[in-house]
Amino acid sequence: MIEEMQAAYAKSGGPVSNSYQGWTRYSKVAYVSGTHGNRLVQNYGNAKAKAYGKFENAGRMPVGAILAKDSFQVTGAGKVSVGPLFVMEKMSAGWNKASDDWKYSMVLPTGAIMGVTKGTNSKAMKFCYECHISVAEDQDSLLFLPEENRQN
Ligand code: HEC
Repeated sequence: MIEEMQAAYAKSGGPVSNSYQGWTRYSKVAYVSGTHGNRLVQNYGNAKAKAYGKFENAGRMPVGAILAKDSFQVTGAGKVSVGPLFVMEKMSAGWNKASDDWKYSMVLPTGAIMGVTKGTNSKAMKFCYECHISVAEDQDSLLFLPEENRQN
């Protein structure tokens, strides 16, 4: 499954798609995320996002911190297919107040970019931060993951 996801996202040619699997993984196993299409997901962070491992005590992320969440789904017939790659990148202060200076993006399994905040199809990414922004003040818009699935 890992190879399939890698191959699918790599088609986008984006730097995150090609490198995130070498980053720190903060989920022990894939878990079901009801807020990301009920898919099985895992969370990864780049070196700048290392405070993510402190979870609710992480504080605010530095510019350049990137979090990625890959996904797959299992159909009723037991068929496994790759889902989208969800990405959040912390930009400089004042870059986009509405998204708490996070750049949200989503890469489809075809490698196509579904949207990027302030870029391609930016509007399609609004729903991401409409949800994440609920914890902008206390947790820098990060929602972490169920405790039993965490590792750091
Ligand atoms: C309805 C709420 C909701 C929406 C909409 C949503 N998310 Fe999330 N997101 C969450 C929750 C809750 C978590 C943590 C738990 C989990 O994985 O289910 C999370 C976790 C994440 C993470 C890991 C970093 C973190 O916050 O811990 C990334 C990256 C992410 N989401 C990206 C996106 C992107 C990109 C979109 C839009 C395409 C999006 N999310 C839409 C609720 C949401």
